[in-house]
Amino acid sequence: MADLEGNRNAKSFAPETPELQLGHSIKGAHNLDWGMQHRLGRVLSGSTGRTVMLAFDHGYFQGPTSGLERLDLNISPLSDYADALMCTRGALRTAMPPTTGAGLVLRASGGPSVLKELSDEQTALAIEDAVRLDASAVAVQVFIGGEHETQSVKNLTTLIDDGYRVGVPVLGVTAVGKDLTRDARYLGLATRIIAELGAQLVKTYYCESGFEDVVAGCPVPVIMAGGKKLPELDALTMASRAVRAGAAGVDMGRNIFQSDSPIGMIQAIRAVVHDDASPEDAYAIYSDSRKAV
Ligand code: R5P
Repeated sequence: MADLEGNRNAKSFAPETPELQLGHSIKGAHNLDWGMQHRLGRVLSGSTGRTVMLAFDHGYFQGPTSGLERLDLNISPLSDYADALMCTRGALRTAMPPTTGAGLVLRASGGPSVLKELSDEQTALAIEDAVRLDASAVAVQVFIGGEHETQSVKNLTTLIDDGYRVGVPVLGVTAVGKDLTRDARYLGLATRIIAELGAQLVKTYYCESGFEDVVAGCPVPVIMAGGKKLPELDALTMASRAVRAGAAGVDMGRNIFQSDSPIGMIQAIRAVVHDDASPEDAYAIYSDSRKAV
């Protein structure tokens, strides 16, 4: 019991000072509950409101991928350079250090492998396990225009409802099927649908023309997806253009872990995303790290 003797009367209420407006300035998040805003802040860095996410969830449908043969050796050394890790619970529990300071975006959909129709996914994670793993968000593919579009939308909305129950945000990922064009019209359609259905974050591919309209038309933060491995300067240029067009950062996998200097590359991407470095200046960071090896 608190000591009742010697208590000092409370008197510093500063009645003339308006209440401080506390909180993140995360797009679309001002009406979310505290826990959800707090978790979003683990994905989007407090200082810039942007993120460098490291994606290595490929194994959930591709099995072992080049650069991800040994998650403990290939990825755990990178974990402290990322604002958030995007991975499966299997990868997390078997190969990631729980000491990492990075946020966690947990893959929550799956089903078909690369041998089958990829849009035929289901949710693949109970939200309680996401909470148990201290997930900052859960991620689900949404195949707008794909063969199993409605099922993937149902996966999204189920996870969003689960997430609201426990305060975990959802990252909806626009999964572009092989017959769909990655242009601003399609990406604007897909990102907007995902946000309107309730996702608090959206991940989508970059397009050269009209990406700023895709971002502006989406009422929650848009995170640029990496895609296939590009020459390092091209990948840095794409990331730079995306954040300059308003993206809240990037989620890149192969362009980092398939680089000949993954640590140099993630540092270069951080410079683009958080310091607005030019692609050329960021490339110098990557290049210097190769010389140092
Ligand atoms: C896309 O969202 C998939 O889940 C991938 O497994 C991964 O996140 C893609 O990363 P990247 O295309 O940058 O290698």
